[in-house]
Amino acid sequence: MNIANNLKYNVKILSIFPEVFPGPLGVSLIGNALKKKIWNLDIINIRDFAKDKHKSVDDTPYGGGAGMIMKPDIIGLAIDSLKDNRSKRICLTPRGKLLNQDKVKELSTEDGLILLCGRYEGIDQRVIDFYDFEEVSIGNYVISGGESATFVLLESVLRLLPGVLGGNETLNEESFSDKDLLEYPQYTKPRDWNGICVPEVLTSGNHNEIKNWRDKQRIEITKSRKLDT
Ligand code: 6GU
Repeated sequence: MNIANNLKYNVKILSIFPEVFPGPLGVSLIGNALKKKIWNLDIINIRDFAKDKHKSVDDTPYGGGAGMIMKPDIIGLAIDSLKDNRSKRICLTPRGKLLNQDKVKELSTEDGLILLCGRYEGIDQRVIDFYDFEEVSIGNYVISGGESATFVLLESVLRLLPGVLGGNETLNEESFSDKDLLEYPQYTKPRDWNGICVPEVLTSGNHNEIKNWRDKQRIEITKSRKLDT
């Protein structure tokens, strides 16, 4: 765990598509935090560690079947090159344990993360076991690779680091952090848009009534949206 806030949160991403990074991590609050060196980003191109002339990073599965498997020897070289035994190792894969806000909070207290983006049909299990990677999924659906999942994971984790959110953004009234309730609906000006007015209570100036209305909305919206967590 970072003891002092002036220690950087180190993020290392292993991918065969390094060109997609930093992507959304380079903008807005998280992008500003990167510039302020609250966190640090290293992108490692797994293909740089390929040994043959075709720069192969995958091969056919033992036992047969469709698709290609990422090779343990190449990924192993990429991990060894990091010389990092402190950071938590996460492998993004649809086989992983479902990410939730409790896990996100836990990851935000690490020194840093090594994120392995799965591609093809999977990663040789030996490399996952040998390097003690925790397998994480972002939902019950399949996407082509772990890169987009890495964005999701990092956007959820990095915003929790001290100093990332500005004064206007608040952590405590958000969905899932407070009693697992979803957020209440929000409105801004104009008060009348296309003849649709914002709920009157919000313009009443009565903070007690506003709070009650919002609490009720949160309970109703949470009930009506069947959460599969
Ligand atoms: Cl982490 N990877 C892929 N390829 N698909 C997913 C996923 C991850 N999480 C949900 N679906």
